[in-house]
Amino acid sequence: MAPSYPPTHDAVVTTGKRLPLAIREVDTAVPEPGEVVVRVEWTASSPLDLHQADGGIITSPPFTILGCSFAGTVVATGEDDPTATKPNSAPVQLGDQVFGFAWEKQKQMGFQTYVTVPRRLVGRIPPNLTVQQAVTAPANLVCAIHTITQDLRLELPWPKPEGWTPKEENHPILIWGAASSVGLFAIQVLRHWGYKNVLAVASSKHHEELAALGARKSFDYKDTGVTDQISAHAGPIYRIIDCIGQLEGTLRPLSKIAVKGTIVAVMLPVILRDATEEVGSEVDLDPASIRKVQWADGVGTIGVRTFFFEKNELLKWHLEPDIVPALLESGVVKPNRARIVEGKTLLERAQNALNLLRQRAPSGERLVWRVAE
Ligand SMILES: NC(=O)c1ccc[n+]([C@@H]2O[C@H](COP(=O)([O-])OP(=O)(O)OC[C@H]3O[C@@H](n4cnc5c(N)ncnc54)[C@H](OP(=O)(O)O)[C@@H]3O)[C@@H](O)[C@H]2O)c1
Repeated sequence: MAPSYPPTHDAVVTTGKRLPLAIREVDTAVPEPGEVVVRVEWTASSPLDLHQADGGIITSPPFTILGCSFAGTVVATGEDDPTATKPNSAPVQLGDQVFGFAWEKQKQMGFQTYVTVPRRLVGRIPPNLTVQQAVTAPANLVCAIHTITQDLRLELPWPKPEGWTPKEENHPILIWGAASSVGLFAIQVLRHWGYKNVLAVASSKHHEELAALGARKSFDYKDTGVTDQISAHAGPIYRIIDCIGQLEGTLRPLSKIAVKGTIVAVMLPVILRDATEEVGSEVDLDPASIRKVQWADGVGTIGVRTFFFEKNELLKWHLEPDIVPALLESGVVKPNRARIVEGKTLLERAQNALNLLRQRAPSGERLVWRVAE
C-alpha cells in the first residue's frame, strides 16, 4: 500500500472561550523518523474538550485543535527512529487499523482527519473490538494505569508474573466517580492485578455493573451520609482516586474520609464550577487548588497529569503499543460503552458532542463520532 495523505486537511478547533467550534484547514505534517500518519476515522469526546472550549485551559490563539483520542488507518510511516525502544508487538505498518492517545502537539490531536504521531503513541486495534469501542479506551486506560502506579504508588508489574499478588491485596482502595471513563478502567485494572478491596462511588444505577467489573462494594454519592457509610464500612482508607475533581462534589466529601497517611490522587483540572448551556466552566489546573478544601493533617493530595506517564520508561514505550491492546484483546479490560454522536458534517458532530458534555449527559459511557467520511 503506497503512502497517501493530502497536503492539507480539516480540523475541528476552538477559537476562543465559549465560541462555537469551527473548521480550519491545516497542513498534514510529514512524518519524522519514528512517526506515522493516521487517517482518523473515529474520535472520542471527553470532558477535557469542555475544559478547553469553555474553561479556556490548554488553548492558544489563534486556534486550538481539540481531541486527544483517535482511531483509524495508518497511511504513511516515517523512517525508523534508531533511538526509539521497539514495541514487543510487530511495528505498525501501512494499512493497519490503529488507535491512540496523544496530547503534545497540534498535529497529534484527534479532531482532525489526519494525525501525525510517534509510533509509541499508537497500538493496533484488537480484532475483538469495533473501531468505535476501541476509540473509547486509550486516553483513560492510560490515565488509570498511570494514576495507580505513579500517583498511588501501587504495583502493576507487566507482564503480570504467574501467581503474583500485591502486598496491598486487601487494603481498601476508594474510586470516587467510578462510573466515569477513568473510574471504569481503574476498577478493571486493579481487579486484574489482584487488588481485592476496591470500593466504588457512583449512582446506584451503575452498582451492578461495577460489581461485575471488580468493585467489592459500591456507594451512591447522592445519598446524604455517604461519607459516614464509607468510613464505617472500610475504616481508614489510604488510597483514593478522585476521578472527577469537583471542589464541592468530590473534594469536599473526600476530605471527610481521608486520614493521616492517605494519598488522594485527583484528576486535574479541579472543577470550581461546571459548564452549562448558560455559563462557562471555571477550572484550575494548579494542583494547589485541591487544597481549597481543608484536609486532615498528613493527607497527601496529588493532581493527576496523565501525560507524565512517559517519565516511566516501560510505560513510555510499551503502554500504548503493547499493554493497552493486550488488556483489551484478552478481555481483562472492557472498553467503555460507546455512544455514537450523529451529525451531517464533521463540525456538526463535534458541536453536538460538546453540547452533550455541557448537559453532562454521558453516564457510564463515552461519546464517539466519525471524523473522516
Ligand atoms: N489530569 C488528567 O490527566 C486527566 C486524565 C483523564 C481525565 N481527567 C479528568 O477527569 C475527569 C473525568 O473524566 P472522564 O472522561 O472519566 O469523565 P466522564 O466519563 O465523562 O464522567 C462522567 C461520570 O462522572 C460521574 N460524576 C459526575 N459527578 C460526580 C460526583 N460528584 N461523584 C461521583 N461521580 C460523579 C457521573 O457518574 P454517574 O453516572 O454515577 O452520575 C458520570 O458517569 C474530567 O474532568 C477529565 O478532564 C483528567
